[in-house]
Amino acid sequence: MSIDVAAVRAEFPILSRKVHDRPLVYLDNAASAQKPQVVIDAVTHAYAHEYANVHRGLHFLSNLATDNYEAVRGKLQAFLGARHEEEIIYTTGSTQGLNLVSYGWGAPNLQEGDEIVLSVMEHHANIVPWHFLRERQGAVLKWVEPEADGSLDPQRVLDACGPRTRLIALTHMSNVLGTVVDVETVCRAARERGIATVIDGSQAAVHMPVNVAEIGCDFYAITGHKLYGPSASGALYVRRERFGEMRPFIGGGDMIREVHRDRISWNDPPHEFEAGTPGIVQMIGLGVALDWLTGLGMENIAAHERALRDYARERLAGLNWITVQGDAPGKGAIFSFTMEGAAHPHDISTVIDRKGVAVRAGHHCAQPLMEFLGLTATTRASLAVYNTPAEIDALIDALETCHSLFA
Ligand SMILES: Cc1ncc(COP(=O)(O)O)c(C=O)c1O
Repeated sequence: MSIDVAAVRAEFPILSRKVHDRPLVYLDNAASAQKPQVVIDAVTHAYAHEYANVHRGLHFLSNLATDNYEAVRGKLQAFLGARHEEEIIYTTGSTQGLNLVSYGWGAPNLQEGDEIVLSVMEHHANIVPWHFLRERQGAVLKWVEPEADGSLDPQRVLDACGPRTRLIALTHMSNVLGTVVDVETVCRAARERGIATVIDGSQAAVHMPVNVAEIGCDFYAITGHKLYGPSASGALYVRRERFGEMRPFIGGGDMIREVHRDRISWNDPPHEFEAGTPGIVQMIGLGVALDWLTGLGMENIAAHERALRDYARERLAGLNWITVQGDAPGKGAIFSFTMEGAAHPHDISTVIDRKGVAVRAGHHCAQPLMEFLGLTATTRASLAVYNTPAEIDALIDALETCHSLFA
């Protein structure tokens, strides 16, 4: 079934607003996606009619809020293809999820000299937590570089693993190059060698169907605000077999079984890893966003975005003063580029913003990748299910204006 993009757009109130007196052309989706009315309504409804703290009260509203909040776990399980509901841990986003892997699994399991293999394409959220293990536990980071087209050869990742490698940390889709990484091949081989795998699904889960059981990873992080849900919502999938090796990361209410003056014991997973009052309404909103995505169909979304990607690739290729970084086969609809004639990415984004076109400029929280590319920054246009070929034309027009100013 193809996506009825006009109908999809009508569900997003913000897409009909103007910016600098121009229709908004929102191409900053890799940073955060806009929200459909159903998500906005769900958040408002939860606060207006069904709000109380969860897991704590015995009163009507607390039970209702708890039921609504806990019901999202099953939706996340289905969305990610996890085998067991308790394998879904609620987080505030990928950053928290990846830090949970670092503190909750890495800290108790890694010794000095143990290795973590990662790609230079990672977002800082999938780098800094491993640097913490390097600084605090003496872990060694081993970096894998992409090929010239931005693809990542799984064999290169596996070749970087030695007898001391304990963890492989990889993105499923690069937030800069759009490269989709063959994480299945890596995770399958890693499992055979007893190496744990953590996959950053922040981008991939938005644009394609994901099945963590088929991927065979140990950990998979997603973030709700990119999935058309509220900010500060998200989830970490943890393969059940890893729970026994983990320790809680944040201590406080809800994650305990008993607390005494001289001892404590924890709750069972997933609650062991969910201390304190969580993002109750945010997670309820994320559940509605997941229903909305599955209603459209992830395969249909992927097909729509493939068509947009091909059109954008063709239009950008027509500008011989633009260099697009990365063209790996099967890449997602994310285009990072530089402009000949010395226009800095910040200048480009500022100029095209005056035409209503919202893109991102900078290092995109991927400085090791920028270093690898020999750049300090790029301009990035990242597409979503509600974008249209006409918006890509608007981007091209705006870039042409920008080029004529700086050339
Ligand atoms: C690939 C990737 N990983 C991790 C993150 C971090 O996500 P969050 O800031 O929502 O935790 C992002 C967000 O930009 C991302 O694109």
